[in-house]
Amino acid sequence: MVKSYRDTIRFQPNGTKYKGRHLEARVLPNWDLVEKFGIYNAFTSKMKSTSDANIKEAIEKMEAAIHLGESDRSQDWRDLMAQARSGLYEYMKQKGEQVDLVELVRYITLKTSLNYLFKDAKAAEKNPEHFKDMLYVSSHLNELLVTYERAADRLPGWSEQEDLHAALRRVTLSIPTYVSALNSTSTRAKRANSKLPEPMQKYRNPLNLLMHAYDTIWRVVLRCFLEIRFRNAENGPEWSEMMKHYTNMLWESAMIDVTSDNRFVGPLRKSSTLSLKPHFIINEALRLYPPISRIQRQYDGELHEVDLEACHRSSLLGDDDPLVFRPERWRDLSRPRKNDYAASSAKREQERLGFMPFALSCPSNTEKTKEFGTKMIGMLVGILCTELGEEWELKDGRDDLPELGKPLDNDRGAYPTLLLANQKPCE
Ligand code: HEM
Repeated sequence: MVKSYRDTIRFQPNGTKYKGRHLEARVLPNWDLVEKFGIYNAFTSKMKSTSDANIKEAIEKMEAAIHLGESDRSQDWRDLMAQARSGLYEYMKQKGEQVDLVELVRYITLKTSLNYLFKDAKAAEKNPEHFKDMLYVSSHLNELLVTYERAADRLPGWSEQEDLHAALRRVTLSIPTYVSALNSTSTRAKRANSKLPEPMQKYRNPLNLLMHAYDTIWRVVLRCFLEIRFRNAENGPEWSEMMKHYTNMLWESAMIDVTSDNRFVGPLRKSSTLSLKPHFIINEALRLYPPISRIQRQYDGELHEVDLEACHRSSLLGDDDPLVFRPERWRDLSRPRKNDYAASSAKREQERLGFMPFALSCPSNTEKTKEFGTKMIGMLVGILCTELGEEWELKDGRDDLPELGKPLDNDRGAYPTLLLANQKPCE
């Protein structure tokens, strides 16, 4: 199964190189994204120039987000961490002692993503409606995606989503930029404005970058955090400590990496004082809950589907307890093969066993971006573990979680009522 899935992803249906156009093979199954979300990017464009430009832009944004220098490839996560933390405090300030966990996870992921993807996003936070807009964008986008997955034909076209367009404009553009864009008359100003995010302009739709980058991350962060903190797993406290420790290491990453011999590996795989390593926990979340659970290709009019979730839950990767969240299994899965000590060898071996949450092509999982996607997941989970300590308990929604040993629901609409309450409120 794994080999045939890998072949499907790599444009080699039945083991032979596909002679048709590779871009089309990937784009055709995603075609509805154009009509329903106005998306023109690597997932939907048949034009190589558009696809390449989207990938290049995504890579540049990720590199800039962690301040990767040209000559010195060290990374600095402090800005992103500060944004995620301040997002959490903003949310808590507005919501008081009771926290809707799904809403909070979406909020901090959206805030962090907007900030590194859009130049004006920080200034846009001054807009008076900002908090309301953020909650609206995250919940409405999710509702649309739920409908899209269940019955895409019931979804109105993108041009009809006027409230979402307006909210997206407000969270990506500051008021001065927005006003000057409306009133610009000079050619120079018009040229500058033609690069600003605009939901109704196909190449400028903020969702071209935002939707995938944000939506993949929040869902796996939520599940990882739930597994660590709210399932009464025996090793849960140790996992939580590990992720707190991880955020500390990431905070210091600028300093660590400059002197590190293996810059790619960086803080993600550094040994800690504890017996586990953070990437075991992140990998286990990506294994059990891959945010993109199905990959599709269309070869010669025929749809080929890769069920990544099933692949990740097979006994090859999951041993005799594939449905259990057990990060410790990655101790064995991360050992390089005999006589081969290169870090990438372990990664290749994991792929051979079927671990492909990034479908072998996502730029957020490469050396160039220093495994940005995986680290973002770890950073957000670590911040949640740090900021929502033992005093926070699930008040509502605990009964919706399955018994320990069974996997959480991986559906994007799952767990709408997880309410956290502070058991020791401040006086
Ligand atoms: C961490 C969570 C993420 C996961 C699990 C993930 C997963 C994936 C997968 C499965 C694909 C391939 C889809 C296919 O071939 O049909 C993909 C492609 C892509 N991803 Fe991600 N992704 C993540 C984060 C990101 C982020 C943060 C960015 C950018 C900011 C990004 C940008 C892209 C782009 C541009 C492509 C298209 C690549 C190409 O066409 O060669 N991803 N991702």
